[in-house]
Amino acid sequence: MAKREFEKKILCIGAGYVGGPTMAMIAAKCPQYEVTVVDVDPARIAAWQSDSLPIYEPGLLEVVKKARGNNLMFSTEIEANIRKADIIFVSVNTPTKTFGDGAGRAADLQYWEKTARSILSAAESDKIIVEKSTLPVRTAKAMARILNANESGFHFEVLSNPEFLAEGTAVADLENPDRVLIGSRENEQGLKARAQVVDIYANWVPRKRIITSNVWSAELSKLVANAFLAQRISSINSISALCEKTEANVVEVAHAIGMDSRIGSRFLDAGVGFGGSCFKKDILNLVYICEHYGLNEVAQYWESVVKINEYQEQRFVRTMVKVMFNTVAGKRIAIFGFAFKKDTGDTRESPAIYVTKQLCAEKAGVVIFDPKALDNAKRDLRGLEDYVEFTDDPYAAAKGSHAIAVLTEWELFAALDYQRIYDSMEKPAFIFDGRNILDHQALYEIGFSVFPIGKPALKHF
Ligand SMILES: NC(=O)c1ccc[n+]([C@@H]2O[C@H](COP(=O)([O-])OP(=O)(O)OC[C@H]3O[C@@H](n4cnc5c(N)ncnc54)[C@H](O)[C@@H]3O)[C@@H](O)[C@H]2O)c1
Repeated sequence: MAKREFEKKILCIGAGYVGGPTMAMIAAKCPQYEVTVVDVDPARIAAWQSDSLPIYEPGLLEVVKKARGNNLMFSTEIEANIRKADIIFVSVNTPTKTFGDGAGRAADLQYWEKTARSILSAAESDKIIVEKSTLPVRTAKAMARILNANESGFHFEVLSNPEFLAEGTAVADLENPDRVLIGSRENEQGLKARAQVVDIYANWVPRKRIITSNVWSAELSKLVANAFLAQRISSINSISALCEKTEANVVEVAHAIGMDSRIGSRFLDAGVGFGGSCFKKDILNLVYICEHYGLNEVAQYWESVVKINEYQEQRFVRTMVKVMFNTVAGKRIAIFGFAFKKDTGDTRESPAIYVTKQLCAEKAGVVIFDPKALDNAKRDLRGLEDYVEFTDDPYAAAKGSHAIAVLTEWELFAALDYQRIYDSMEKPAFIFDGRNILDHQALYEIGFSVFPIGKPALKHF
């Protein structure tokens, strides 16, 4: 049988939370393109080739299965795939630097630069390089310099196409994005390359939602979008602390302000704090860039968003210890939810990591239940095995516990039999609802003392 000819060959370097789902969606929507995803991690690639994907996202397996083997491939052969690609998306990790100048703030670009050098050494023709990773503003310039400092005469046009998907809703976000942003140089070569990337998305995204800009605006917009989203959470969380002092109810306050169409109602749920791999790192990156340009007041403004988040996590644990008679030593505490949000197994920067570690430092025994994140939780808590247990049964987690802390808004938590749970716990039994998802009055009537976020506590003493 003759080998099928594809219109375009698309490669993505980096098969993580972004590379895997975005490329699966492109492949599913564009059968005329060949899409290959490569990674340096053979275990990750093997998982993408199996039915047990390396990440949990509702609906993702169906999208992958639709395209895999037809026009979607996962591979560890990086160089050969670079050679045959027309367009290369790069979605490698860009964590916060942990060493040297800018440690704890700047983005660590070593994986990104390695990728650029692999492209340079393997390429045998002109390529369009698309930044999918979140990068500091003006990175494309450095990349273009590295890539075009070659004697081969090949041209590499660097574009920015930041990814706005949210974990937990990645498939829906990719299928029906609020917008797709493509930044390029605004000269002939840049605009030509931009048109090619626009054409990919135009296979399923309405044209009016595909927006274009210069490269710097595209790079910066991603950092700013995450900074604004995180800022809303920190704003409402800061108000939750005031509500707890004044008997105002943060849910009522959020509802009242959210009905103002200028404010809007989304992303106003107070809780134990935001997590995820991106918010903190992207804000710190923004802070670093502002400091670099001498914009110290701007840097401080955005840094306070991260500080309020840390304060909220600390406040949560302090309340737990204080309420439980100023000691949790030797007490058993059940943690409901370890993922940083519902519908994902991702635990990167999850508030549950801080809360669990603090409770262990206070010498509590902690037992963790999460429907999807236990493997990651075990990795995050390595070294604390003397204090921590893991279970896939919430009733077993609660049995014999003095308290339950709800740290992820998994819907299943609201549907549990809390009378059964109460009967199996030590008394007095406490619930600290770090996501305000339970029926607090009903829990109180069962006999629990209930401590929500930003709402009056319901106490039996
Ligand atoms: N996770 C999200 O929700 C999200 C959303 C939008 C944007 N982003 C951004 O996208 C980028 C990727 O994030 P992620 O969550 O997918 O990260 P990830 O850690 O899940 O995946 C990155 C992958 O890149 C691979 N990799 C690293 N260096 C490589 C190299 N030289 N060659 C080939 N593969 C290499 C790693 O092995 C890893 O599998 C980051 O810049 C992040 O800020 C993430």
